[in-house]
Amino acid sequence: MPFFEEAGSPMFVPPQNEMALAWRRKVAEFDGYTFVTAEYNHSMPAVLKNALDYAYAEFVRKPVTFVAYGGVGGARAVEQLRLVVAELQMTSLKQTVHIGSTEFIGMLMQGKSFADFPYLDETATTMLDHLTWWANALKAGRDREAAEPFDHQKALASAGA
Ligand SMILES: Cc1cc2nc3c(=O)[nH]c(=O)nc-3n(C[C@H](O)[C@H](O)[C@H](O)COP(=O)(O)O)c2cc1C
Repeated sequence: MPFFEEAGSPMFVPPQNEMALAWRRKVAEFDGYTFVTAEYNHSMPAVLKNALDYAYAEFVRKPVTFVAYGGVGGARAVEQLRLVVAELQMTSLKQTVHIGSTEFIGMLMQGKSFADFPYLDETATTMLDHLTWWANALKAGRDREAAEPFDHQKALASAGA
């Protein structure tokens, strides 16, 4: 994915770049997402942020959760990603998987495997169960709205705004 260089935010201006368009088409196919992320200087990798900047409508009103790895399980990158996905109008889930240095070094250098860290499997199963719930719930909401579009003016008026 090239570094973002488009006329404006994809919220308003569809990207021209072919690779970005292919990425958007792929992203649009799904009702929920698991972002796998490392941590760079206590934040998300720039390439992940760049990819997110290239899409918009495809993510709106869909759930996202995270599998992160790093010194503290990539927790700081995940917390920063939550701020980004709020602008994409996504629901970010509480349930996430964090692979810390004990697990990472254990598997990379000490001959250990996932079986030595059963809580990773357990948290992944819990995470996916919740992701499925939210994917179904938000899909039903999007389908309902497609059948009967949300009337923003009416909602504002009834809220007294
Ligand atoms: C510039 C830079 C900053 C990094 N900052 C962090 C960090 O803040 N926390 C952390 O846990 N790991 C940090 N790392 C380690 C990376 O997360 C680690 O190398 C990881 O495996 C990179 O994943 P990737 O190769 O899939 O991008 C940093 C690495 C680089 C190159």
